[in-house]
Amino acid sequence: MVHELIVLLLPVQPIVATATGVEMVSVVYSDLANECPPDELDALSAMHKSPIPPIDNGSQLYICYLMLLSDAVERSQVRQLLAELTVLNRRLREAQNAYQDLVNSYQDLVETLLAVIETSKGRFHNWGYVIYRTTYSAESNASFPDIIRFIEACIKKQFVSAGADRPRNYVSEDWPKYRSTIMEDPAQFQGASLDEIRTHFGTWVDAQGIRDKWTKFRMCIIIDEESLQTLKDATVAETETENFHEPLRYVKVLEAFPDIDQYDIFPGWMKCWTYALWSLWENMQDGDDMKMQHAFIEEDDPWPDVYIG
Ligand SMILES: *[C@@H]1O[C@H](CO)[C@@H](O)[C@H](O)[C@H]1NC(C)=O
Ligand SMILES: *[C@@H]1O[C@H](CO)[C@@H](O)[C@H](O)[C@H]1NC(C)=O
Repeated sequence: MVHELIVLLLPVQPIVATATGVEMVSVVYSDLANECPPDELDALSAMHKSPIPPIDNGSQLYICYLMLLSDAVERSQVRQLLAELTVLNRRLREAQNAYQDLVNSYQDLVETLLAVIETSKGRFHNWGYVIYRTTYSAESNASFPDIIRFIEACIKKQFVSAGADRPRNYVSEDWPKYRSTIMEDPAQFQGASLDEIRTHFGTWVDAQGIRDKWTKFRMCIIIDEESLQTLKDATVAETETENFHEPLRYVKVLEAFPDIDQYDIFPGWMKCWTYALWSLWENMQDGDDMKMQHAFIEEDDPWPDVYIG
């Protein structure tokens, strides 16, 4: 005969993904063991045969213990409560198992990622944009070498400022590996359209079997007559001045294999501010499409049709 019903609501918190939760439960449980009638203790035991695994994210978990010390309460009612508790505990364990599966998947993913990074080390010694030149006017011939130096200085400026808070000194390790690949040949590229350049670039990439393998092979820069007009008097010294934002200088950047359908407004290329070339590279390094970057161009930007990072 039991004499009293005591319902203990025990906040077990915070239960985080450590063994602590399990330990807390078993401590509480052993205290109960002194007071619980043997048959109820068995019921509790059965419920907790498998230890309660740690639960997710610090949210509170309430575990209900029933101690039957009185006959003022219907045993059947208590049985029913215990049964409900069992169901809840089972659901909790299922949720925790699902959570553990997720954690395992994360760990697997991270390991795979690390393995991929490890294998890729040293595979590409140099990095940098492929740059197509489609204008060969006298003006272009005179300024092209300076324009390349200017573009590289712009990339470096942003690369260095973005690198300031990196743990690894990637500026000293990785900047020296920057190399532009210049595609320059009046016979092939003089006045070539963007589509013609895409065909050439895509063929060049596919011939090496490196489609989609790396940022360098997913997009290229085009310096055509229009961009030349914004670049022709640019100097490296200008990149060091306070006023480096003005005037607007841009190139065209073109995606080799754009994934676009009839509903996309992205035409497969965009104008890119020379100082945003490193942002673009960095933002596309994770394999994202250029159209995602194109979507960042805002109507009310100072230069409404130019990507500024
Ligand atoms: C923890 O999980 C609960 C339930 O899924 C959720 O409502 C709560 O926002 C989460 N808390 C934190 C800090 O993530
Ligand atoms: C510019 O240089 C190219 C060779 O790179 C040459 O074919 C072309 O005639 C030059 N353009 C002018 C206007 O001199």
